[in-house]
Amino acid sequence: MIGRLNHVAIAVPDLAAATATYGNALGAKVSAPIPQPEHGVTVVFVELPNTKIELLHPLGDNSPIKGFLERNPSGGIHHVCYEVADIYAARDRLKAEGARVLGDGEPKIGAHDKPVLFLHPKDFYGTLIELEQA
Ligand code: CO
Repeated sequence: MIGRLNHVAIAVPDLAAATATYGNALGAKVSAPIPQPEHGVTVVFVELPNTKIELLHPLGDNSPIKGFLERNPSGGIHHVCYEVADIYAARDRLKAEGARVLGDGEPKIGAHDKPVLFLHPKDFYGTLIELEQA
């Protein structure tokens, strides 16, 4: 069911430093910082030949990654995003398999203006999974 790896999101305590690490030391193509106030993050996109890395930094007081950075002060992998062809079919299949869909179970418009869902990390070996309808 799942398709391509759309992105890996890494929460970082210092966005400028992380951007320099990816842009300079690792030699990747990096975007300018993009504030996404509706998602409570500022994002830098790192373009790789086969996928993307998203460097996430909290924006605002209610950022969904604030607690994660408090528990992981030097940063860490926050989630991975897999593409699916049909987000509703994916959700129904996962619920039937016993997986927990976060929130109210309804897809929301994500950071790429496409419908997304998040799956409980305890059902997926400690990894928060985002599904995005590609
Ligand atoms: Co994401």
